Amino acid sequence: MKLIRSALIGVGVAAIANLTLFGNSGDLSPRFKDNEYLNNTTGEELYRANCARCHGDNGEGGKGPNLTTENKKAKWKDSDSKIIRQIQKGGFFMPSFRKKLTDDEIRSIAAYVRELPPVSK
Ligand code: HEC
Repeated sequence: MKLIRSALIGVGVAAIANLTLFGNSGDLSPRFKDNEYLNNTTGEELYRANCARCHGDNGEGGKGPNLTTENKKAKWKDSDSKIIRQIQKGGFFMPSFRKKLTDDEIRSIAAYVRELPPVSK
């Protein structure tokens, strides 16, 4: 039941994120900052709101790389620090989330990403 609920919330959040963000990938601005509802969300919901548009709903990739391959899993099997750093700093195309997400939020997304089951497109 809880899973279904968060899946539905995830879809809703992704829809809102798409509406507000599409075509503006450089700036993921303050949008959810004061949204109490989202401050209590899990890594999954945050992933869907912030990451799924590039990395796919299940981490299978899209504009960004697949996050569930063996190579990726191997890279961060010992700790979440690499995932956390990537989220904070961003990359070449990937935006930085340091100003948009709290440390706790970033940690919960990293924990979620690490546990994603392998998927291929
Ligand atoms: C605008 C598209 C975009 C968004 C949004 C995005 N990413 Fe990325 N991500 C990328 C791209 C592209 C790369 C490859 C490196 C680069 O060019 O930035 C990447 C790389 C990564 C990597 C490093 C993979 C490796 O090889 O080590 C991780 C981890 C990651 N992203 C996680 C996330 C998470 C978690 C979020 C949400 C908080 C997110 N990304 C949001 C596009 C995106």
